[in-house]
Amino acid sequence: MTFIYGVDYYPEHWPVARWATDAKLMQEAGMNLVRLAEFAWARLEPRQDLYDFDWLDRAIDLMAEHGIDVILGTPTASPPPWLMAQDPTLFRVNEEGRRLTYGHRRAYCPNHPLYQMHTERIVTVMARRYAGHPAVVGLQIDNEFGDRCYCDICRGAFHGWLAERYDSLHEMNERWGTAFWSHIYTDWEMIPTPVATVAPHNPGLALDYNRFCSDSYVRYQRLQIERLRQYCPDRQRITHNFMGFGYPNINYFDLARDLDFVTWDAYWRHQWNMGNPAQASNMALSHDTMRGLKQQTFWVMEQQSGPGGWELVSESPKPGQLRLWAYNAIAHGADGIVFFRWRTARHGAEQYWHGILDHHGEPGRRYHEVVQMGQEMQDIGDAIVGAQTQADVAMILSYDSRFAFQIQANNPSFNHSAHFQEIYHTLHERQVTVDIVPPDADLTPYRLAIAPALHVVPEEVADNLRRFVDGGGILVLTARSGVKDETNTVVDAKLPGLFADLCGVTVSEYVSLAPHAQTQVTFAEPVAGLPATVAVSVWCDVLEVDGAEVLARYTEDYYAGKPAVTLNHYGKGQVLYVGTLSAPIYEVLTPLLLNLAGVQPVFTAPADVEVTVRHRDGRRLFFLLNHAAELRTVTLAGTYTDLLAEGKTVTDAVDLDPYGVCILTDLP
Ligand code: GAL
Repeated sequence: MTFIYGVDYYPEHWPVARWATDAKLMQEAGMNLVRLAEFAWARLEPRQDLYDFDWLDRAIDLMAEHGIDVILGTPTASPPPWLMAQDPTLFRVNEEGRRLTYGHRRAYCPNHPLYQMHTERIVTVMARRYAGHPAVVGLQIDNEFGDRCYCDICRGAFHGWLAERYDSLHEMNERWGTAFWSHIYTDWEMIPTPVATVAPHNPGLALDYNRFCSDSYVRYQRLQIERLRQYCPDRQRITHNFMGFGYPNINYFDLARDLDFVTWDAYWRHQWNMGNPAQASNMALSHDTMRGLKQQTFWVMEQQSGPGGWELVSESPKPGQLRLWAYNAIAHGADGIVFFRWRTARHGAEQYWHGILDHHGEPGRRYHEVVQMGQEMQDIGDAIVGAQTQADVAMILSYDSRFAFQIQANNPSFNHSAHFQEIYHTLHERQVTVDIVPPDADLTPYRLAIAPALHVVPEEVADNLRRFVDGGGILVLTARSGVKDETNTVVDAKLPGLFADLCGVTVSEYVSLAPHAQTQVTFAEPVAGLPATVAVSVWCDVLEVDGAEVLARYTEDYYAGKPAVTLNHYGKGQVLYVGTLSAPIYEVLTPLLLNLAGVQPVFTAPADVEVTVRHRDGRRLFFLLNHAAELRTVTLAGTYTDLLAEGKTVTDAVDLDPYGVCILTDLP
């Protein structure tokens, strides 16, 4: 295996006379891969059944002459006007019930038979043409699968999906509780999509629809994979470019299952997140989630290479940051970095989404930084590729719960993804390695498992967590866990429902706090050096213990003195129940938990320095990343080889330049 270092390239946007210059500059930057064609449908098939692949052949051959391999994108994210003009129902209908029009991309309905027919056609033509091409080493399906469609074709497909899921209409009515407001359906055809109406839909219907939409993209992707695999040999590996932890509308564990490997699009700075102070841990969480989808190393298919922007222009990456961010991906398990994009487009909606080169095409500061890293990858890429991450801590990501909170947030200040991120952040700032896993994952490799607001809980999931704790694991559950069964029905038991015995508590009542309202909890025995009293907001579960030890109690209002945080012994393990959804409490709880589970940080490091470790051939590779604009010194606990300093030996301490990177490995 070789470390992949490359760029997303759009030769169709530039004069052919320029291509050779681009290829030469890429080669000089140490690149060994380009992604091509993922938005080029109109150039590949200018009119239906009239194909023009000559330009792509030339581009691929030119790359091959420069020692650069190719990943080809199937162009279905951006269909040409001639196709979308064939039938107005090809366009998605959004949640407000409005049918989209031509003008952007990703506006198609994934369940539309006509769209699927055209998809199969173009994908088959590409597969047949390039299956034997030695430079084509992989295929990317579509681009960033996305939003839900609420059209009539989806409605019909939803009926079929429901008929497969439930034994009968009667069973579905029972499970959804459609006696409420007389919604009892007597024919599948009557079931609506949860498109905007007076106010919210039945939660059972709405959750199933969110699952159905996720499955629709899984199925649409499979349709492409099947066509490609009919012709393409296994050496042409198939992927899709995901959108990290933050994208909430597709069950990414399901989407990853049919793929050979996962790639994702890592943007540190764009117009929507300007000035986000938690960005380093958010990106780390996304990398960890992408690694977790298949429990495999992954690639970044779009690594930021300049300021991002559609209507607005984001902050410019400072000198050193492009390289730092690319190493951040590698530090979390990436075996490939592909920058987006080669040259900033002069036309189109992304005129301000900057590439390695600016609009004018002359190499500048960003190109030289990419060249530096390309040189480094040639020197040390072989030592990194394939190295694995080993974690003692797992965080459980439940897309069912995420989908359910999209339907009922429970509290105006609550966001499931943000809650998850806040807890992850406190682990990340302590240099703790975390795996992101689905609720049914085998948890035996972990000492600590954290399940933030695990809301929708099938029996198998409760059993899985019970087995983990019984065997000695430490589990954390937070408020709003165990509230719903898998049809989004509230459980017929005291909360936390199926987890009550595990937690040794029940929720005697819950208090949803108004926006900005705060109360507080006090710890009986605070961890040394940490505050005993912590402000809480958003939500308070008032607990009644049934065997658990009380760690913290509320101090105000009518529930003053009642338990807020508890710890229960169960089997050989322990379960911490956190009755609030607010973040500051983890400043106290995370150190406590790490002590309890005996989890050590990778290294102790100063603020803004991120440390991760990957393992290969019995040796550890430590990545030390300085996200600060000032020099930072990291104290070492041993003697190591400094990979980026030609194997120099280091002991005691290393200095990291502003935005600097150091990779240490155990002595041979
Ligand atoms: C990604 C997408 C790219 C490009 C980039 C910048 O989401 O896959 O095609 O649009 O963002 O907006």
